[in-house]
Parts: sequence; structure tokens; C-alpha cells
Amino acid sequence: MSAQEKKIRAAAAALRHLREDAPIGVGTGSTVNCFIDALAAHPVRLKTVASSEATSARLAAAGFEVIDLNDVGELALYVDGADQATRRRHLIKGGGGALTREKIVAEAAREFICILDDGKLADTLGSFPLPIEVIPMARNLVARRLGRFGGHAVWRQGYVTDNGNHILDVHGLTIADPPTLESALNQIPGVVTVGLFGERPADLLLVGTDQGVVEI
Ligand code: 5RP
Repeated sequence: MSAQEKKIRAAAAALRHLREDAPIGVGTGSTVNCFIDALAAHPVRLKTVASSEATSARLAAAGFEVIDLNDVGELALYVDGADQATRRRHLIKGGGGALTREKIVAEAAREFICILDDGKLADTLGSFPLPIEVIPMARNLVARRLGRFGGHAVWRQGYVTDNGNHILDVHGLTIADPPTLESALNQIPGVVTVGLFGERPADLLLVGTDQGVVEI
């Protein structure tokens, strides 16, 4: 079975967690696009909060109302993908560049369900380069400081986030303790968001596999 088919499986499984009466947060990426497609085929029409301009446009095109996070209280549910995940539900996110708004919406949600294919499970995070959103003027400064953590930062050249910032992808990290590294990286002036979800991991992973969907 292809990774895409596994993503579709995981996305479909997330539908079982919908509550009809509350807006949901919707993440960004190809797995979430499968979720939006599944949601569009579902009879319930929920209000949504999007984690990126791309998701907002896709939700609107599928007929969903997209509301501002400022206009809702806590979200009952947030559904998003990830680039890499551990069985402790720590994540690397931001391969699609939406990490800042993703972290905001995840923080606003009582439950964060992460949908992914089993090729993204890892014992230790870091083989997928860690995305970090930075203020443009601080890009080189932050890149130098990241060297102290043993990583090699590569500027995602030509890419500008929805917030007008740049992204550094940090290669070569072995992330033994995600919350501690996340906290330390957040102290570097110029860092907007670290794509490490350690302090606020997912509450549930729905992992698409050949055999079906595994819940972690
Ligand atoms: C976007 C993300 C995505 O969730 C992550 O990149 C996974 O994407 P995909 O589902 O396309 O593999 O963090 O910023």
C-alpha cells in the first residue's frame, strides 16, 4: 500500500472523533488535504479554524466556513499531520512551512489528533530536518546559534511563511529530549517558532498502516 493510501486511511479515521456542535482546527499538508476531502464528503458542516492560508482556501473551496481563532474560545479538536512522530507523540512539524499557526491552533485545542502514515514513525526525532521559523533579519544569527546545538541550519531559500518570515531547516540533530530542546531553541532571539511539538505533543496519533489504522 502506498503512503498516500495510508494517509487517506488515517484521515478517514479522524472523522470518528468529530463533534457536531463545535468548530474544529484544521492543519496543513497533504495528509490534512485527505482529511478535508473526507470532511467534505461527510454530512456534517462544521465551522473551521485554519492553520494556513492554503488550508483556508481549500476549506472555503470545499464549502466550509473558516473563522478567525480570535472569534472562538477553546477548540474541542485539532486535526493535523506531521513530518515525524514518536510513540510518545512528540512531533516534528513545519515541512509545509505552517508551523507557527499550527502550534497556535494546537495550543487552542483541547484534543490534538495527528494523522500520519507509518513511514513517519521514528524512535528518535531528528532525521527529518527540524524547521524553525525566524524573523528575516535574524536568519544568519539564528543559524550560527543553532550550530551550538549540533545542527546544521539550511535556509529554505525563496520561501516566505504566511507570517512574512523565513524558515531554517536544521539537519543533523538527534533529539533525545524534545521538550528541553524546544525550550532551549525558543530562547534564541529571532526565533518565532520551533517545529518541535514537545511541550504540547499530540494527544492521539492515528497511523495509517497496511493492516489498518493504529491508535497511539
Ligand atoms: C506543515 C506540516 C505538515 O503537517 C507536515 O509537513 C506533514 O505534511 P504532509 O501531510 O504533506 O506529509 O507540518 O507545516
